[in-house]
Amino acid sequence: MSGAIPPVGVIGAGHWGKNHLRNFAALGALAAFADADAATVSGLAATYPNAKTFVGGEKLIDSGIVKAVVIASPAVTHGALARRALEAGLHVFVEKPLCLDVAEAESLRDLANRNGRVLMVGHLLLYHPAFLAMKRLVDTGVLGDLRYIYSNRLSLGKIRREENALWSFAPHDISMILALTGQLPSKVVATGGHYLDSKVADTTLSHLTFTTGVQAHVFVSWLHPYKDHRMVVVGSKAMAVFDDTRKLAEKVQLYRHGVGWNEDLPVVSRAEAEPVAIEDTEPLRVECETFLKCVATGSRPTSDAEEGIRVLRVLDACQRAIAAGAAVKLS
Ligand SMILES: NC(=O)c1ccc[n+]([C@@H]2O[C@H](COP(=O)([O-])OP(=O)(O)OC[C@H]3O[C@@H](n4cnc5c(N)ncnc54)[C@H](O)[C@@H]3O)[C@@H](O)[C@H]2O)c1
Repeated sequence: MSGAIPPVGVIGAGHWGKNHLRNFAALGALAAFADADAATVSGLAATYPNAKTFVGGEKLIDSGIVKAVVIASPAVTHGALARRALEAGLHVFVEKPLCLDVAEAESLRDLANRNGRVLMVGHLLLYHPAFLAMKRLVDTGVLGDLRYIYSNRLSLGKIRREENALWSFAPHDISMILALTGQLPSKVVATGGHYLDSKVADTTLSHLTFTTGVQAHVFVSWLHPYKDHRMVVVGSKAMAVFDDTRKLAEKVQLYRHGVGWNEDLPVVSRAEAEPVAIEDTEPLRVECETFLKCVATGSRPTSDAEEGIRVLRVLDACQRAIAAGAAVKLS
């Protein structure tokens, strides 16, 4: 990495924030951390003795001792904390989703641009070596023309009480699908299943239509008997699967199946699955390094504010489609 390592503060030291603490500490950048819960802060203080601690992310932002913050608090707090940090002149890496409202996200992007600050979103899968391998298969034409993509993000938990399964899980799948297709869908239809709480969908199924003819769907749930994190991409020449529950050597499989025609009869020729070699990197480590590099050099991350806004626009359209029980068009 070129440039000095900026002092970073981590806000939110819960289930996921702990991974940020570990990574930024290992990268020599962790200067401070905060959590709203005093017991969480004191419980972690001994593990990171060189980091200053705060009860409440707002206090960390106002302290003036960091140049950049990572916001890993619940999604409902993202918008206000990111605004406060940008107004204080800090660079911001906010966990997904960027916030819960498209207009608010656009205003955060404008604020970051005006102040010359990095605003990065935690769309982790864009930094996953298996997804990067899938993208290479698409970009280099191995799969041919894209036809259909689906992505499952299913498990038992983590059940949230504020944002639904769509906003909690699908940012990852939507960010990957938009990266593969290179455009926004023109139309979405979506349904939600509300079982534990009438206001919070536990499971959603969103179907995206693109002007190129590509179709995609995203199925997410926290009420599923086992973990299924799988993306399937079907192209005109070959098909590929990214299964994040498999071991490294088997995470990406390429299927060069063919479908030809004999007179007017379709003829399928089946091929063996070919494992695709991927690098052994921790996606979150790569994501944290990317943030530090962008802060130090002024470069833009793949998951910049614009990318975060595109994902929010699709999430917002899916949410409106669930509420209306009808298709929603995107301009
Ligand atoms: N990229 C990924 O793969 C991934 C995975 C899991 C979670 N996440 C994201 O990380 C974020 C946190 O999720 P989680 O599962 O760790 O939730 P969590 O509930 O386990 O932790 C959130 C923590 O934030 C703290 N907090 C709340 N308000 C705060 C404030 N104002 N200042 C400081 N701390 C505050 C809470 O006390 C809690 O400890 C969410 O945005 C979630 O979507 C991302």
